[in-house]
Amino acid sequence: MENLLDFAVASTKEFATKNTELQKIVFDQQQARSLQRFAKEIADIGGPQAVGAKTKAAFAASELKVSLSIEQHAVLQRYSDGLLSVLVYEGLEKVNGLALPSKLPTLENLENDTDVLLIAARNQILLKLVDHKTFAYDIENDGKLVRLVGNFKGGGAELLQDEPRKLELSSHSGLALGPHTETPYWCSVKAVDGHSPAPSALILSGVWNPAKEPTTVIPAAPLLEKLGIVNTLALTSKYFHFTRSDSFVDGMGEDGRFVSIVDFDENSGFSLRFNAYRFSVDKDAPQLVKTAFAKLLEAIAGADLIKYSLSQESAMVINNCRALHCRDVVEDNRRLLIRLFGSSKFAQPVVLSQDPLILRG
Ligand SMILES: [Fe+2]
Repeated sequence: MENLLDFAVASTKEFATKNTELQKIVFDQQQARSLQRFAKEIADIGGPQAVGAKTKAAFAASELKVSLSIEQHAVLQRYSDGLLSVLVYEGLEKVNGLALPSKLPTLENLENDTDVLLIAARNQILLKLVDHKTFAYDIENDGKLVRLVGNFKGGGAELLQDEPRKLELSSHSGLALGPHTETPYWCSVKAVDGHSPAPSALILSGVWNPAKEPTTVIPAAPLLEKLGIVNTLALTSKYFHFTRSDSFVDGMGEDGRFVSIVDFDENSGFSLRFNAYRFSVDKDAPQLVKTAFAKLLEAIAGADLIKYSLSQESAMVINNCRALHCRDVVEDNRRLLIRLFGSSKFAQPVVLSQDPLILRG
């Protein structure tokens, strides 16, 4: 497996020619300062979960757009249209008050920290720049729009003081997470049987990442090209099952049976849902489908990887219909990222609440 790109040296133009699945926007100082100022206003009212935050984020995004260059606009448009796997924002401001601690604070303390909320609000605005609305599912992350990604529940390379015996396979643990798209796995764009589609996107930004541990993305288009016509078509058949996610609210969410992995999509060509540690193929599926499933696993294992180490000065939007992501075991327990989900202009979810936006999972 090879590391596809060195983000530090490549310009936006170089990105475009090297890899059409990934592009970068580097904010200048003035743009970064405006973004920080708008984000602070949202943090001051309670962050993305607060009533009114989405209106403020939409206003901030439209104001920021005025200051963007033609090239930056073109990249945003391409992502908004569903044609990129990854968009990286760089040149963001560091946050005063978020110096690296000696030990990761508790989840509760972090969730109420205004500086943490500022980074979350910044992510909400950055999603809005690509026409995505920030939301939460009723069944996941306790209905909260902001998810803190850190080793709160054990499983990292370094043991916690109260390391639990039973580990959770979720972004609240330190365990390695194999290649996956974000749950739920029923459908990708339009709601089916009362289930909203999977998130169109997730955005991640760093709070602390002292060991520069990367987030890894695997664009799906090269995988499907490698698999070829018959295997790709076989993955559109509904012979696949998945197990319930560990990040679901107790008593909510469920295993799923007889779903597809790949779908034709009228806007971006295709969409994909997959999880290397939760998906299986039905035992009575046709041999061609079983072969396609095995080939997909093989292609993922040999895929080119995009690796990127997030910090306070960067954020990464991953197109959840077009790319898988994964990470290795957490090495430094102070590593903390902030994740938000985005719903694209194409998504047709089941809306339970408009402000904050809560979708049925
Ligand atoms: Fe994930």
